[in-house]
Amino acid sequence: MKIALLGATGPSGLQVVKEALARGHTVTALVRNPEKLTEKHEKLKVVKANIYNADDMAPHFEGQDAVLSCLGTTPSWFSLWTITFYTDTAKPIVEALRKANVTRLVFMTSWYTKYDRSDPFIINWVLKPLFLGPTLHNMGQMEDYFDQECADIAYTSVRPPQLVDTDTSGKPVLAEVAQSIRSPGKRFVCCRRDVARFMLDAAEKREYIRKCVAIASG
Ligand SMILES: NC(=O)c1ccc[n+]([C@@H]2O[C@H](COP(=O)([O-])OP(=O)(O)OC[C@H]3O[C@@H](n4cnc5c(N)ncnc54)[C@H](OP(=O)(O)O)[C@@H]3O)[C@@H](O)[C@H]2O)c1
Repeated sequence: MKIALLGATGPSGLQVVKEALARGHTVTALVRNPEKLTEKHEKLKVVKANIYNADDMAPHFEGQDAVLSCLGTTPSWFSLWTITFYTDTAKPIVEALRKANVTRLVFMTSWYTKYDRSDPFIINWVLKPLFLGPTLHNMGQMEDYFDQECADIAYTSVRPPQLVDTDTSGKPVLAEVAQSIRSPGKRFVCCRRDVARFMLDAAEKREYIRKCVAIASG
């Protein structure tokens, strides 16, 4: 496959680069700082592009089988409460996909992007009010945007829980079309390499089209 990747310089993006190249795919990484991506491979092209500008991204999306995104932001304490990064970047990405005639998009969000009163107390009454709420809410708004305004885009929202850099167990990645995977008493995490495996499987097999899917390491 030919894949364009956003967020390739982040820790999850780097795992997608490595896994995609190991699977024999051709990767075009659109980054803001090309020096940061030190990975070298004959099938890896690194280009500088502005993720807020559709015209900048569209030429690099042309001819790709899928676009994958591991974009994310770490807001400061002051900008935390007004975060719009996910919806602000989704719109130019969709515009660029349409200009390039590419319809497949797989992107990362998180567990708990929506409010559900049956979610754990610590999520709804501690972590969301303290600091996670605005980021998760904006991810949820982005998912709504794809659901309600992008009928032409075959998107998959990949929702991991806490990400860890430990290596994968090699077991199949757990996946459920839901906002979390529930198993009483069990605390899930997801290896970033499993995120990469799952995103590439979804792109290759055209699975979970127009679905938001919670994942975790098995
Ligand atoms: N950390 C967790 O436990 C956790 C759990 C669930 C979900 N998530 C979500 O998973 C996603 C990936 O997380 P991560 O920790 O692997 O990566 P990350 O550290 O959030 O990396 C973000 C990537 O986005 C890029 N980026 C951010 N702003 C950009 C801009 N204005 N222009 C161009 N590129 C920009 C960064 O580029 P630079 O390298 O140039 O900064 C980097 O490549 C995020 O959306 C995160 O919120 C994280």
